[in-house]
Amino acid sequence: MIKSDISPVNHPNKLDAIVSVGPHSLREWRDLRLRGLREHPEAFGQTVESFQATTDEQVLARMEAQQAIGGFVLAALSKTGQMLGTVGLALDDAKKTSHRGMLWGMYVIPEARGQDIGRRLVAELLELTKKIQGLEQIHLAVVTTNLSALALYKKLGFSVYGTDPRVLKIGGQYFDEHLMVLRTPQGAAGK
Ligand SMILES: CC(C)(COP(=O)(O)OP(=O)(O)OC[C@H]1O[C@@H](n2cnc3c(N)ncnc32)[C@H](O)[C@@H]1OP(=O)(O)O)[C@@H](O)C(=O)NCCC(=O)NCCS
Repeated sequence: MIKSDISPVNHPNKLDAIVSVGPHSLREWRDLRLRGLREHPEAFGQTVESFQATTDEQVLARMEAQQAIGGFVLAALSKTGQMLGTVGLALDDAKKTSHRGMLWGMYVIPEARGQDIGRRLVAELLELTKKIQGLEQIHLAVVTTNLSALALYKKLGFSVYGTDPRVLKIGGQYFDEHLMVLRTPQGAAGK
């Protein structure tokens, strides 16, 4: 019998590591995000055009401003270093809202889906949030018809606390978003 090169272990799109995105990997991350925005316009608030209109310097400046207050962008890498997926955490340094973080930009390339990469990206994000002083809850918004993402977030403990009607309007079609939240261990102790 001829053995396939693409066994689950040697699969070219198998996750090898989850790393932080920075200046060194900005170009590849931008290509990955652009692909996500192009392929799933209904899954993200940002348009392809607005993302393309921002310069590398602007994107980097935003990432660095976030890093300074504990925010980050993660990427899932294959053994060969290809970016397979991404997710970000944005924080707010305003005193009254710094206990809330926002999960954003969740995306896994179609060739690598269904291999637990999305779940592991969010699990790593949640692990890292444990070290962020004062961060009590992680919020996110997901289009109500995005059942795979909704299932993924529920699996990791997020719950829906509201539904925002007609958040996105794309080509005359409206999309509602479920608002979801997960308390961090620090937040779980509060009322
Ligand atoms: C949503 C997305 C990130 C999932 O990534 P993934 O790596 O394929 O997900 P995983 O393999 O880690 O799956 C984890 C869990 O998510 C859920 N899930 C993932 N894909 C699913 C699907 N097609 N149908 C139903 N549930 C699904 C399941 O609960 C799954 O656990 P299980 O396999 O034990 O049932 C990916 O489909 C994607 O990038 N979609 C386009 C962009 C997007 O929608 N982003 C979210 C914006 S809020």
